[in-house]
Amino acid sequence: MQVHLYDSSAQVGQAAAILIGAQLIGKPGSVLGLATGSTPIPTYRELIRMHRAGAVDFSSAVSFNLDEYCRLPEQHPCSYHYFMRNEFFNHVNFAPSNTHMPNGNAVDLLAECARYDQVIAKAGGIDLQLLGIGRNGHIGFNEPSDQFVYGCHVVKLTPSTIQANRRFFDTEADVPREAISLGIGSIISAKRIVLLATGYDKAQAVCRAIREDIDPATQASILRTHPDVIFLLDRAAASKL
Ligand code: F6R
Repeated sequence: MQVHLYDSSAQVGQAAAILIGAQLIGKPGSVLGLATGSTPIPTYRELIRMHRAGAVDFSSAVSFNLDEYCRLPEQHPCSYHYFMRNEFFNHVNFAPSNTHMPNGNAVDLLAECARYDQVIAKAGGIDLQLLGIGRNGHIGFNEPSDQFVYGCHVVKLTPSTIQANRRFFDTEADVPREAISLGIGSIISAKRIVLLATGYDKAQAVCRAIREDIDPATQASILRTHPDVIFLLDRAAASKL
């Protein structure tokens, strides 16, 4: 695995955008796995800037997001659908039919998980997967557990994730308790994985993922088995390495 250190979260975002831009130059129809949350926002801003400057073209790219809350309307400002439109898709030239997100409002959530895995497989799998990391070491919403779950699944969010994501909602009671998440299998099957971590509150999870045993209690530790994984960290997130 490669680990790169930067002085600021803005630089982490620039580095990630360069990797994504290069991926699209090498293969314009790349399948990108995308993440939400605070960490990738500088990456999306930089990609928007690069797109406006004419350097990056998303017109034949395909995207699959990692996750979505269950039973939160897509129009809700805290939904990941809303986040992706607002922070990224509305500002670049993806064909809307090429952007995919799990439907957390599906009547049959298990069927939706199976459908999402099938669409990814039909697209040929993910070329480059962008990841953040939870304070508890989760990737996507694959929460600490005694196992790695291979396929897309419905997750019960842990108290630590509910607490971490409370900042986006009015009250803690408003944070959805369940989400649909891509499984570890689809993530680890991506040809290249780029994980971003910024801030001291990620330092412990980053250290456990890189230095301790591969253990589903720290789901990100599985990334060490991948042949092409790049961690882009600011100095705060790397401070416990
Ligand atoms: C989001 C996702 C999560 C976040 C993680 C970190 O799509 O899959 O794993 O990457 O919770 O979130 P932030 O960046 O808000 O600290």
